[in-house]
Amino acid sequence: MPMSPSTIIFSSDDGAHVDETRPELSDIGRYGRMLVRRFVSQARASEQPSFRSIIGDHLGIDPDDLPVVEERWPAYEHVNVQSALDAWLGEAGREHRMIGLADYRHRGSFGLADLLGQSAMERMHGPRPGNVSRTSLPSGPAGETTDCVRAAVVLATLGDDRLALLYRGADPDSEMRGVTVEVVATRPELATELTGALRRLALELNVYRGQVVSFGHSMFGERSSLLRFHERPRLSAEDLILPADTFADVRRQVVGVARNSTRLRAAGQHLKRGLLLYGPPGVGKTHTVRYLVSELVGTTIVELTGETLGAIRDACSIARSLQPAMIVVEDVDLIAQERDHYGGETPLLFTLLNEMDGLAEDADVVFLLTTNRADLLEPALASRPGRVDQAVHIDVPDRDARHRLVELYAGRLEVDLGRIEDVLDRTDGVTASFLKELLRRAAVVAADRQDAPDDDTALAVSADDLEAALDDLLDTRNQMTRAVLGFREE
Ligand SMILES: Nc1ncnc2c1ncn2[C@@H]1O[C@H](COP(=O)(O)OP(=O)(O)OP(=O)(O)O)[C@@H](O)[C@H]1O
Ligand SMILES: [Mg+2]
Repeated sequence: MPMSPSTIIFSSDDGAHVDETRPELSDIGRYGRMLVRRFVSQARASEQPSFRSIIGDHLGIDPDDLPVVEERWPAYEHVNVQSALDAWLGEAGREHRMIGLADYRHRGSFGLADLLGQSAMERMHGPRPGNVSRTSLPSGPAGETTDCVRAAVVLATLGDDRLALLYRGADPDSEMRGVTVEVVATRPELATELTGALRRLALELNVYRGQVVSFGHSMFGERSSLLRFHERPRLSAEDLILPADTFADVRRQVVGVARNSTRLRAAGQHLKRGLLLYGPPGVGKTHTVRYLVSELVGTTIVELTGETLGAIRDACSIARSLQPAMIVVEDVDLIAQERDHYGGETPLLFTLLNEMDGLAEDADVVFLLTTNRADLLEPALASRPGRVDQAVHIDVPDRDARHRLVELYAGRLEVDLGRIEDVLDRTDGVTASFLKELLRRAAVVAADRQDAPDDDTALAVSADDLEAALDDLLDTRNQMTRAVLGFREE
């Protein structure tokens, strides 16, 4: 790392260090040179072409009389607006030049009108023409990124028409909370045409379409200003053990409607649907969500948590514009009581329900909510009927489901299921995650008994191993373990 001139070097041998406050002769020379540099740069700044003159020259007319047309997007759209601008500027017959901005950060807000109106004084202190700075933003789940311009003035020529635009992305160091494009053009209609085209293209080229995304806090602590990409989980129907009718209900509402959306819409049926999965911890609500997400390839998935539920309006707007879409709100009880972030007195849950209601009926959007405290939600849901079309109870697995879970989580282990009936008798009331843990422990018991660390023959779990693991889990010492696995003590 290059050292900055102000770096103070401490000597480590004798414990003494250079006194950085005592002036030295060489400091006087340095100070003098600094004063001269500042003086020269100020004197030249007033000579440098200002944005006002650059834009005026480009347009060939006095920009004072031209209306400025502005379009805004939320911060997470920066990457889409960039693609839109690139596409628009790249069309045949268009030429452009991009000029970066220097000295514009930490200066509060300014717009194209400010650049056009700059007085000599402002030219010295306000944003000056400089290098174009870029930032790399995520544009795909596999770590893809797109280079995006932070702030620039673009001068474009389309045949006889000319336009100038100020393009700015969200910037933590200035007051920019979103993305803005401000345009002046020799023909005012052209400015409106451009902003319209950018809006259309940003939607068409949207990197979030068909992806799994969630809101995240940006590094500068702004609430929900970033969208993160996630790898779509891969889960087959065999990985999800539910009673057949529960599975069919969930699948029909979510995947079935999505598959037949065109015909259903044509028949005047509403596509927007709300589904609540409720049940005790550890029974597979999240697992079901993951299965549905994996089935809905091509559907845009927006995941919200209690922490990011404040972004529900943005989530709905994304879902609406990138349909088919699914908005997942896990553990929705956590926010049932919380007040919304829009300054209102409304609990967040009501904001969520209102937003669900606000979406058009024929929007192919699923709201998938999960909770293990249905009792907390019930009054709210009952007082706002019609938002949730179906509440699906996912309960602890019955005997048949327990059998299938043991087989599923045996995986590649060779398990002796000779005394499985015993195991099923003794596990009445346990959760799926309890059984998953049971099989893991049985494997550990078996490995320990056989104790052949580098042997690569498959691990064989005897009926005794399975029983020993179950004894251990049901032992009074493991009451806490059972509790965290979601076992209901009688
Ligand atoms: N029905 C199921 N079929 C197969 N595996 C399951 C099932 N339910 C749970 N599991 C296993 O147990 C783990 C924990 O379950 P999951 O996180 O889905 O529970 P949950 O119902 O969401 O609980 P919570 O209310 O605590 O969020 C899952 O990752 C999965 O491995
Ligand atoms: Mg869960």
